Amino acid sequence: MSQQLQQWHREVQASQSLRDLEELRIRLLGKSGEITSLLKTLGSLAPEERKEKGAEINHLKLVITDAIEHRKAQLEEAELADRLLKEKVDVTLSIRPESIGSIHPISQVMNEIIAYFSNFGFEIASGPEIDDEDHNFSALNMPDHHPARQSHDTFYLMPDESGIRKLLRTHTSTVQIRTMRQQQPPLRILAPGRVYRNDYDATHTPMFHQIEGLVIDKGINFGHLKGTVIDFCKHFFEKENLKFRFRPSFFPFTEPSAEMDIGCDRSGGGIKFGQGNDWLEIFGCGMVHPNVLKNCGIDPEEYQGFAFGFGVDRFAMLKYGIPDLRSMFESDGRWLSYYGFSPFGGK
Ligand code: PHE
Repeated sequence: MSQQLQQWHREVQASQSLRDLEELRIRLLGKSGEITSLLKTLGSLAPEERKEKGAEINHLKLVITDAIEHRKAQLEEAELADRLLKEKVDVTLSIRPESIGSIHPISQVMNEIIAYFSNFGFEIASGPEIDDEDHNFSALNMPDHHPARQSHDTFYLMPDESGIRKLLRTHTSTVQIRTMRQQQPPLRILAPGRVYRNDYDATHTPMFHQIEGLVIDKGINFGHLKGTVIDFCKHFFEKENLKFRFRPSFFPFTEPSAEMDIGCDRSGGGIKFGQGNDWLEIFGCGMVHPNVLKNCGIDPEEYQGFAFGFGVDRFAMLKYGIPDLRSMFESDGRWLSYYGFSPFGGK
């Protein structure tokens, strides 16, 4: 018996991992383990012998259980030491959240607008920033020499070999044309992106951002347009009692066209919404002109639609009280840490 004990003891000592040790424990002390089976033989022995043998086997069981516990503690300690060595932390590295930076107010506002309209089934569409006169003007009901072209302060690129000159798109309305030519109505799209015009002062920069909205379906009317943008503005500016008005306006690609103003108070130096007697123009919109639908192969007798063009930078200035548009694009870290948003949500 003592030889057997020594043999098992050596096996316990020789186990090199917690897993091996556990396998050995099951082999010896498990339900049908070797030591357990020895105990089971006791029943068939004569009382005297059973007493003697019983004591012996129980002693053996105790010794082995002890040895296993002991070896287990040793192996656990070794495993921990090994992990500590491998998973060393360099405390001189910079703290992570510091290096993540913050979200620019333009991105924040874009995300807010996109999140709102996705609830109503609007899909994101896009087009190139370098585009042609057709998408930027002609197809939008501004043929060659149309006077409205002048008002866009367009940046033109040098003409190519065939004499065709490209341009930096002056508005995201180019994406209306691309979408209507590529997809069949009904359509509901939102087209965010950069646009370019030769203009520079506190409220204009040569590059700025727009979000175009376009809905094409049967039986769409001006009421749908009004309801959509009014609900959006109340949500965006977080004012249920927001005052607004629609002023008649002109865009060659919409008829009728309007500009939406929201009521505000400028008396205290800053600007407050939902109160006061001043008005602030916030974006242009209108019913898609039948010529534009025709230019894209859509029958205006069958389908109608509305479009709007939000100035994202202006929305960001208004909502987050940013006084000068130009500062948005100066890449000043101090400005960004003041006006930026945490990537983890919240201000
Ligand atoms: N594209 C127009 C602009 O940049 C805005 C607009 C979009 C107006 C859609 C009406 C409909 O001034």
